[in-house]
Amino acid sequence: MITSNAQTSFLSTNTLVSTLTADKWMGFLRNKDLDTYQHCLRVAILAKKVATDFRLAPHVADNLIIGCFLHDLGKMMIPNDVLLLKESLDYKQWFLVRMHPQLGAELLEHLPNLDKEIIEVVRYHHERWDGNGYPDGLSREQIPFLARICAIIDAFDCMITNRPYRDAMSIEEAMKELISNSGTQFDSRLVPPILNCLQKR
Ligand SMILES: [Fe+2]
Repeated sequence: MITSNAQTSFLSTNTLVSTLTADKWMGFLRNKDLDTYQHCLRVAILAKKVATDFRLAPHVADNLIIGCFLHDLGKMMIPNDVLLLKESLDYKQWFLVRMHPQLGAELLEHLPNLDKEIIEVVRYHHERWDGNGYPDGLSREQIPFLARICAIIDAFDCMITNRPYRDAMSIEEAMKELISNSGTQFDSRLVPPILNCLQKR
């Protein structure tokens, strides 16, 4: 599990046990859908860079990185014939896929002492600044700060990765896309500093 700094991690023993359990669940996701697992790993690696650039306090950085790693955990519970479909989804299939933030968060809520901020990243990473996201339709500052960061990094990694139904965008195209969705999908104050950080990849 990636954290801000394994030597000086602020995770308590109980939190560490819960985090390791969640990590084990991610192993189930890896066996079910390797692409999604690798995406989660890349988002966590980018989150670590952002946490460093933003000089987040160590425990907040850990929560961001762990939350980003776990953000798509709920996809473990989406049936394979929907999750691994190579074509576009119909309404019912899309309804199921949209349940993954809530499913992941509800699973993690069963773990003792897992920081609430981690669960918020998982639950709210598909909320939008304009309130048109899911699962709860939160808007603006109602969306937890770390979830707003995850939303941007998540979208960036999705755009620069090949999908069965489309080719990957270039990094420049993905950055333009983040800027054009700034203030509607994403927090416009977070897009420029995150872009600045991603450019240093
Ligand atoms: Fe997601």
